[in-house]
Amino acid sequence: MKNPFKFGTIVEKEYFTDRQNELQYICRILDSENHLALISPRRFGKSSLVLKAVKQTERPYIMLNMQSITSVKELGNKILESLLKLYPMKKIKLFMRNFRIIPTFSTNPLTNGVEVSFEPSATNTDMILEDVMDLVGKVSTEEKRIILIFDEFQEIKDIGQGLDKKLRSILQLQTNVNFIFLGSQESMMEEIFNDKKSPFYHFGLIMQLKRIPEAEFTDFLNERFSKITDDYEKISSEILQVTRCHPYYTQQLAFQTWDAINYKLFGGNFVDNAIGQLVEMHDLDFERFWLNLNKTDPIHLFSSAKTAIRSPNATYQPAPHSVL
Ligand SMILES: Nc1ncnc2c1ncn2[C@@H]1O[C@H](COP(=O)(O)OP(=O)(O)O)[C@@H](O)[C@H]1O
Ligand SMILES: [Mg+2]
Repeated sequence: MKNPFKFGTIVEKEYFTDRQNELQYICRILDSENHLALISPRRFGKSSLVLKAVKQTERPYIMLNMQSITSVKELGNKILESLLKLYPMKKIKLFMRNFRIIPTFSTNPLTNGVEVSFEPSATNTDMILEDVMDLVGKVSTEEKRIILIFDEFQEIKDIGQGLDKKLRSILQLQTNVNFIFLGSQESMMEEIFNDKKSPFYHFGLIMQLKRIPEAEFTDFLNERFSKITDDYEKISSEILQVTRCHPYYTQQLAFQTWDAINYKLFGGNFVDNAIGQLVEMHDLDFERFWLNLNKTDPIHLFSSAKTAIRSPNATYQPAPHSVL
């Protein structure tokens, strides 16, 4: 039997649970001419949720990870490359006739994908961005309006000086496109969308993604653990008590616990032992974090994890709701 838990990457199908209200809400926004800013800490499920909603609409979409983009030119390249995957080259070429700076296309023989590059001497990157975004609006149709998702949008501040202002002035002209902005740095996202001085002030509806409700997560865990143990209710409740329904940590701890039960790796309390294993796996991360803490940081939060690392024979006793 395959381990039914998954963590770290986008989850869908049987690995995705609940979020019914959020899904419906996002679909309603996409069915209007409005835009969405979805904010939560990292690993709460923003990317998974938005991809699920967008796929339900069956409309073309582009997802850009702003963390992996280092310049305005690269942003233009990525959007254009994505458009080439969605629409026939003939259609793109037709609308590109108005481009003020013409890019070069090359085919990557390994992936068969088309790579785009603008001349290194092309320094007017605003012009590139304007033309590419104009193209997005033109290829998009009224029946199948394109959805453009900016993941980790707060990174816009590091990509180019004044890019937020420029992008806002370009995006506000688009009528055939829905924009979704995802962000994990909550204070920065709040500043971008809620500060009156910010160019993106109230540009879209702001939605805070919360943890998955306990009842739904309990059902999700119970269903999977009941296939391998009669103690499934106790196991699920112990896991959620520690993770407090944090989506990523719940899946991770459930994965580890399921592994131990299914393969009879150790006796005793499975959940406690799985936590101990996870803490050991993250030993180096904790060390690095510990060394970077300055003396005034609230170190008590991490003390129980540190105790386990420092004395390997100590039994790991998670303080309720510690670490997570
Ligand atoms: N709806 C969900 N149901 C179950 N697990 C989820 C759900 N959403 C997220 N997760 C868990 O959280 C992890 C991180 O999800 P992700 O969408 O990458 O979050 P974010 O984009 O907020 O960082 C996933 O790999 C999965 O383990
Ligand atoms: Mg994400």
